[in-house]
Amino acid sequence: MSEPRRARLRALAKINLDLRVLGRRPDGYHELRTVFQTISLADRIDVCFEKARTTRIELAGDLATPDNLIRKAAAAVLDSMRVSARVELRLKKGIPIGAGLGGGSSDAAAVLLALPVLAGTHLDVSILMKLAAQLGSDVPFFLLGGTAVAMGRGTELYPVADLGRRQGILVASGLSISTAAAYAALGPCLTSESQENKIFSFQSQVWSYTAGTGGETGLRQGRNDFETVIFEQFPKLASIQRKLRRLGALPARMTGSGSAVFGLFENRAEAIRALESIREERVFPISFVGRRQFRALWWRALRAHAQENIWPPRSRYER
Ligand code: C5P
Repeated sequence: MSEPRRARLRALAKINLDLRVLGRRPDGYHELRTVFQTISLADRIDVCFEKARTTRIELAGDLATPDNLIRKAAAAVLDSMRVSARVELRLKKGIPIGAGLGGGSSDAAAVLLALPVLAGTHLDVSILMKLAAQLGSDVPFFLLGGTAVAMGRGTELYPVADLGRRQGILVASGLSISTAAAYAALGPCLTSESQENKIFSFQSQVWSYTAGTGGETGLRQGRNDFETVIFEQFPKLASIQRKLRRLGALPARMTGSGSAVFGLFENRAEAIRALESIREERVFPISFVGRRQFRALWWRALRAHAQENIWPPRSRYER
């Protein structure tokens, strides 16, 4: 059989710069308008791929459970390529879990991007997107990276120009919040009357990203619809937000359905000052990772196996 092929991947976290939930859809999901942003916080995945007669997927390291999404991602992408292989995945978590940072989704997307390159197979981006959406609502975004507007259940993505390398801090309180429970709690607050206002205000926020002010106004005026219900259940998170505001964060906002709260600062010095004066369980310095940088990270991670400057990464082994 062929030589094993190896790669070390960095699966970045995301924050939601804005998140509006419009209403429940006939399929049970909720209709969203959101802005995703990749940030510098990451998980690490070591992949070893070897063609074999029968498929075997082995997961080691952190969260090596049978139901881990990266195992499902590996199985789905191998199946789609009609390749059987022995795949070893070793996960090292750097992204807090249940925090609204998309760690599990990013890990799954990383596997979708890397395995075709290691296998020497090309999968069209539309196929990758479909596989990603089947794995979870946040997974497709991590095939794109940078800043992006998402609609529908979060899987319909429109890239937005990079907002620059902003600095901030992220407070992970240790609370793990179930996304499904958060949506259920939000349900009674959603009215058809408020939907239209949310769409207009979301649009004006996204438009302001291109207004020539570096997106400053938009970033400040954004919101997260989950904050009201989640802060009511977990007042500690509201107090973290207040603390970040007192330290000069603009904005200070919860990401996804919680529980992490991020604060953005004018410059790195301010972010570091805030980092030092906050004494929560886990506080991380973060910076935005734009799409160009996101792709450069990927090409670097796969340089032994992928051609450069093609997105999604394409294998050198394709025949
Ligand atoms: O898609 P994902 O598996 O990540 O979603 C987890 C849960 O979050 C869903 O089962 C659903 O309850 C809720 N959800 C939703 N609307 C969305 C995304 C997620 O109701 N747009």
